[in-house]
Amino acid sequence: MNLVDFIDGHRDQNLTELCEFLRIPSVSTKSEHKPDIERSARWVADHLRAAGFKSVEIIPTKFHPLVYAESLEAPGKPTVLFYGHYDVQPAEPLELWTSPAFEPAVRDGKLYGRGTADDKGQVHIHIKALESLQKVDGKFPINIKMLIEGEEEVGSVSLWDFVEKNKEKLKADALVVSDTSMLAKGAPSITYGLRGLNYYQIELTGPERDLHSGVYGGAVPNPLTILTELFAKLHDKNFRVTVPGFYDSISKLPPAERKALSALPWNKKDFQKAVGAPGYAGEKGFSIVEQLWTRPTLELNGIWGGYTGEGAKTVIPSKAHAKFSTRLVPNQDPQKISRAVEKYIRKLLPKTVTCKFDVLSTGKPWVAPFHAPIFKKAQAALEKGFGKKAIFIREGGSIPFVTQMHDTFKVPCVLIGFGLPDENAHAPDEHILLENYFNGIKAIAHFYRDLATL
Ligand code: BES
Ligand code: MN
Ligand code: MN
Repeated sequence: MNLVDFIDGHRDQNLTELCEFLRIPSVSTKSEHKPDIERSARWVADHLRAAGFKSVEIIPTKFHPLVYAESLEAPGKPTVLFYGHYDVQPAEPLELWTSPAFEPAVRDGKLYGRGTADDKGQVHIHIKALESLQKVDGKFPINIKMLIEGEEEVGSVSLWDFVEKNKEKLKADALVVSDTSMLAKGAPSITYGLRGLNYYQIELTGPERDLHSGVYGGAVPNPLTILTELFAKLHDKNFRVTVPGFYDSISKLPPAERKALSALPWNKKDFQKAVGAPGYAGEKGFSIVEQLWTRPTLELNGIWGGYTGEGAKTVIPSKAHAKFSTRLVPNQDPQKISRAVEKYIRKLLPKTVTCKFDVLSTGKPWVAPFHAPIFKKAQAALEKGFGKKAIFIREGGSIPFVTQMHDTFKVPCVLIGFGLPDENAHAPDEHILLENYFNGIKAIAHFYRDLATL
């Protein structure tokens, strides 16, 4: 049977199966979901077996298990390592979902549910593409290693150790990842750059306990006020980060790349529609695409302290907290940046508060050339699946494993994303366009088949 006919003939079955995967609330950050994480890992392992992998393992780690499968039965053919994640972000705030996060639902050609785009839907594309090849051709066309983790959304902590100890096992001619986005609907994309991410948390302490703001207010420091003053000082009027040395090592974008980025079919109206803000702000001197993909940022992600319940409470809080992060671009060293950020913050803070400064995770940026032959194969396969020529993009998100693989093995990393930027990853009403899911299976099946002649 013809591969495309086979895949088209299994649309309903594939979708039903994906919904089963999506119903498992495998939220990696919450311990109450530990059993769901384990169920999710088993689900992936079972379906890799059903797809034709004879060697499938669930590897326990200090935190969440990794699923690893391999098929090395194509002597003389290339070996590809696929990476994806089965864990998802929390669904909260639940009341903002049109249909429940873990009860997948189709509306208007889109499949809604937590993990549809990030990343279960995309992992499933690969499982189904491989299963289709196995059923149609009786074998996999190339050697394949599959690594699907359960800690991506919490910084891939256990993965570092696993890669260090299993270099031989993971060795491949290329890394293939589907955990990114297409530039826009109808624009199949290959991502050649990601930003890195450092994540921080600080706690300021003023008075040793909460105080009556009438009895003490006016004579004691308020850590919440000091925290907000601090964050107001971390950007200048041109939206540049004021941390000394923050931009020092960054090289200028080559004119050819700047030109290529500005020629992409990127649409400002779509961007504004996706964001829905009353106005827009970004670092002066750069286009929005450059700001999003090629420039570093410092973002306040959460801030809390004092009284936030119903009604009023006159209190000077003892403590104030903030979570914030820096997105990093090539040549910025995560360790140097975290030291510079801490040093500057400590310098800005008055002596009236103490500061606990924690770096929760660090991750390097990644950008790589895309002239290896495998990129041509990826482009051709996407064209077969989507009927459109694929474009090369960078993105602003972060996948720590990609940099780690690239640094460790120096092999091409092919990032083929089937999500869209406005599909609400990490937010309520996350979804994936069904057309991209179905075309994705075809494109990926062609890709793996065509790699036999790389
Ligand atoms: N799939 C995303 C990364 C991504 C999103 C890449 C959009 C390109 C475009 C991944 O699951 C993710 O959310 N990563 C986190 C970092 C991680 C260390 C928690 C991120 O980018 O915030
Ligand atoms: Mn992801
Ligand atoms: Mn994510």
